[in-house]
Amino acid sequence: MVIRRAPPLPRPHKIRAQELSDLVSDIREFERERVARELHDGVLQSLVALKIKLENALQATSGPFASEISESIAQLYADIGEVRAIARNELPPRIEGASLRQAIALAVESFTKRHSSLDVVFRRIHVNDTFDSDVTWGLFRILQESLNNAAQHARATRIIVTLTEQAGSYELTVTDDGIGIGTNARLGRRGIVNMLSRAADLGGTLTFESNEGSGTMMRVAVPTRPRTTLESGDYSA
Ligand SMILES: Nc1ncnc2c1ncn2[C@@H]1O[C@H](COP(=O)(O)OP(=O)(O)OP(=O)(O)O)[C@@H](O)[C@H]1O
Ligand SMILES: [Mg+2]
Repeated sequence: MVIRRAPPLPRPHKIRAQELSDLVSDIREFERERVARELHDGVLQSLVALKIKLENALQATSGPFASEISESIAQLYADIGEVRAIARNELPPRIEGASLRQAIALAVESFTKRHSSLDVVFRRIHVNDTFDSDVTWGLFRILQESLNNAAQHARATRIIVTLTEQAGSYELTVTDDGIGIGTNARLGRRGIVNMLSRAADLGGTLTFESNEGSGTMMRVAVPTRPRTTLESGDYSA
């Protein structure tokens, strides 16, 4: 008879450090979203209202103030564009209710909009879609960090994202053609640590392949779990 032993519990201080770090990153995300919403729903709407008032005033003015009002409208127009762009960039795509494929497509799409100079390709190969929200959210966040890292550190021109399902695992890869994670990689940051812990939480593995000067490939594989029923959502990906 095989007696199975429970795996040893991680040391308590380790659990707390990881939980704290997850909490901090969740709060950071929540706060970014809150600021973006405030900007969008508050400041932006006030600026738009102000612009409309000035446009009305301009129609009723013919004196020396006309050109000043006209300049103010032009300035407001530019400011509105900037605030709108900031709010749009800071708002994370909403993935509640999305399937895995839809969420991954949304992450790629939102990244591509913000980094139009990068050539980003998304390939889905043999994926039975899932609405398992833990897997979807975990892989979505890992993908976001990996794409952000490629944009921030790699000096890449091309990024390829693949999503496949094989041998009972979902596998997501992000490959860039940049400088590679070299010995000069900055340590003590949170991004990769969070990616690794998210993969481990899902019972999966996450690895990097990188040669200096020839790009980086991040590969994460997580086991598929019993399927939840596919429901139709508002997503077309
Ligand atoms: N695709 C990549 N190409 C080249 N270097 C990379 C790549 N991804 C990560 N790195 C290197 O690994 C380091 C650690 O990445 P990590 O995501 O953990 O931290 P970070 O992006 O610097 O900061 P943050 O905590 O905000 O994510 C980066 O500072 C960078 O030097
Ligand atoms: Mg990072």
